[in-house]
Amino acid sequence: MAALAQSIRRNAIGLGLFAIVTGGTIAVTQVMTAERIEEQAAKAEAKALFEIIPEDQHDNNLLTDTVELPADDRFNAGEPVTAWVARDNGRPTGLIMPVVAPDGYSGAIQLLVGIDLQGRILGVRVTSHRETPGLGDRIETKKSDWIHAFTGRSLRDPEPRRWNVKKNGGVYDHFTGATITPRAVVKAVQKSLIYFRQHRSEIRDILNEPASPRNKPLTPEKIAGQTPEREHS
Ligand SMILES: Cc1cc2nc3c(=O)[nH]c(=O)nc-3n(C[C@H](O)[C@H](O)[C@H](O)COP(=O)(O)O)c2cc1C
Repeated sequence: MAALAQSIRRNAIGLGLFAIVTGGTIAVTQVMTAERIEEQAAKAEAKALFEIIPEDQHDNNLLTDTVELPADDRFNAGEPVTAWVARDNGRPTGLIMPVVAPDGYSGAIQLLVGIDLQGRILGVRVTSHRETPGLGDRIETKKSDWIHAFTGRSLRDPEPRRWNVKKNGGVYDHFTGATITPRAVVKAVQKSLIYFRQHRSEIRDILNEPASPRNKPLTPEKIAGQTPEREHS
């Protein structure tokens, strides 16, 4: 009887240890995977930011120079927007906002939209989506040039009713067999421009605040080598 009890105790301890080791391994793997995913997302975001406003078009640290833009129910569900600011010699030249296109084929599409202070699009990039490979994923720069069609556009160019895909009377191409995805992106970009126009003076005030002290100081190479010519100024 005592031998049986001892065997049960030994098995229980063995099982307990096994559960602890297995559980611990899973937890550590989960934490490491989550960290890696976060790191990859941050890298992808940084890459997109520098594609929208390349390094030769600003002399501040784009990654850390952020401002909080006004909340607006129609644009961002009443939540403040944290935007990245590009500056040249301390003067703000543009900003990049995170924007959600809520009505993609498979749900929300996350975008970054760059706008200069005249309200022209500097560039748009998709940072995350779940659209169908081979159909809706042509919004990615890896798959097609489609997203570049926004660069240089503004709220009146094209006129408001033409801010749509060609199938719906607009100027933007849709994809063969896939209209929902591009339409969702077009509408989200237009919405960003409407938001920018409606809050323009507030945004200008916010941007003209002194650059964040976290910004890296200008390096002598930057000061000597800058030719601050911008596509849209
Ligand atoms: C399996 C499957 C996946 C699809 N994925 C997409 C997609 O990612 N993006 C998209 O715009 N349309 C996708 N479509 C096509 C849409 O259902 C729709 O027919 C197309 O976008 C045209 O929409 P419209 O008639 O509103 O213009 C998919 C269809 C199927 C059957």
